[in-house]
Amino acid sequence: MNSSLPRFKNPRAKHDFKGRSCSVSAVGSYVPARILTNADLEKMVDTSHEWIMSRTGIEQRRIAAADEFTSDMAAKAAQIAMKRAGILPEQIELIIVATITPDMLFPSTACLVQKKIGAVRAAAFDVEAACSGFIFGLEIGQQFIMSRTYDTVLVIGAEKLSSIIDWTDRNTCVLFGDGAGAAILQNRPHSHGLLTACMGSDGGRGDLLSMPGGGSRCPATAASVAAKLHYLRMDGKETFKNAVNAMMTAAQEALRRCEIDITKIKCVIPHQANRRIIDAVAERLGATKEQLFVNLERYGNTSAASVAIALDEAVATGRFSRGDLILLIVFGAGLTWGAAVIEW
Ligand code: UT7
Repeated sequence: MNSSLPRFKNPRAKHDFKGRSCSVSAVGSYVPARILTNADLEKMVDTSHEWIMSRTGIEQRRIAAADEFTSDMAAKAAQIAMKRAGILPEQIELIIVATITPDMLFPSTACLVQKKIGAVRAAAFDVEAACSGFIFGLEIGQQFIMSRTYDTVLVIGAEKLSSIIDWTDRNTCVLFGDGAGAAILQNRPHSHGLLTACMGSDGGRGDLLSMPGGGSRCPATAASVAAKLHYLRMDGKETFKNAVNAMMTAAQEALRRCEIDITKIKCVIPHQANRRIIDAVAERLGATKEQLFVNLERYGNTSAASVAIALDEAVATGRFSRGDLILLIVFGAGLTWGAAVIEW
């Protein structure tokens, strides 16, 4: 038995619970080749590199090609994770794709990914929790594993946000990018794994960040297109305030469930929306610069893909080792928020 187990007495830290353990066997990510820099944006809207850097910390973002869709990026990230985990497509029993930019309203992007990767035995569905979607997906996947329903689950966060951005609106177009990240969850008793994932929502503040058009309330018409209802809208200032508070609440709840404090965490991976949000959360949590992982300068905010891509990069750059504890923290439209602790 793993010698670190006595650290987690709380049954809500579900590590090795009743002979089951939800291990993160491998991760993978994919970003499109095209880079859109702040200098490029200066030519498109009334903005400047200095404004974007000082207000967000973003230097560039990746933009998918016209014929490259959310399911393509999701499938590429998944294939990398599957290869690293040493599993075949037929071994996957469940595919969860977190996205707010599905290829189409239906079928789900998860079903499109299933076909692309050949996971013929899997059930597949999408989760819509905006930027929090990857952690919501981890929690759902963990529940299926701990309840003995499945042994191998693929969780993906993937977005083509460039498809819902108003490229004439400087308030939003400088912030977002495209990409995908994936994780393989497996039942591996007495192994390292996902200790807890917690989620929260406040539908009362849904209007802070939304895309009004395209659903049953406002189907696409010439008028809805002219009124720009099929683009993402955000009240940046209010969203900012809510993000800091909600991410703090989620992180503290995840640490409490595991009965640990922030000093036990080797690496904190927050949602990559804004450097000032990340720094405010880190300061309030008491996390040091050395603990923080940040890559938003290269990708901007990739919503559901954000912490998934960051997790993959943190692994690839050796930011932590097997047995280390890592904390993921997310926040997004809905409003939604969440945090997860993983013993790597
Ligand atoms: O992933 C989901 C969660 N999303 C977030 O967490 C994002 C949260 N919000 C933010 O990151 C920030 O609120 C923003 C980066 C969006 C904006 O930063 P801010 O410090 O809150 O700026 P602001 O909204 O107060 O805007 C200040 C000024 C405004 O001009 P006036 O009205 O004061 O004259 C804006 O029009 O900056 C102007 N502005 C810009 N100027 C140059 C807004 N966007 C730009 C721009 N370039 N791209």
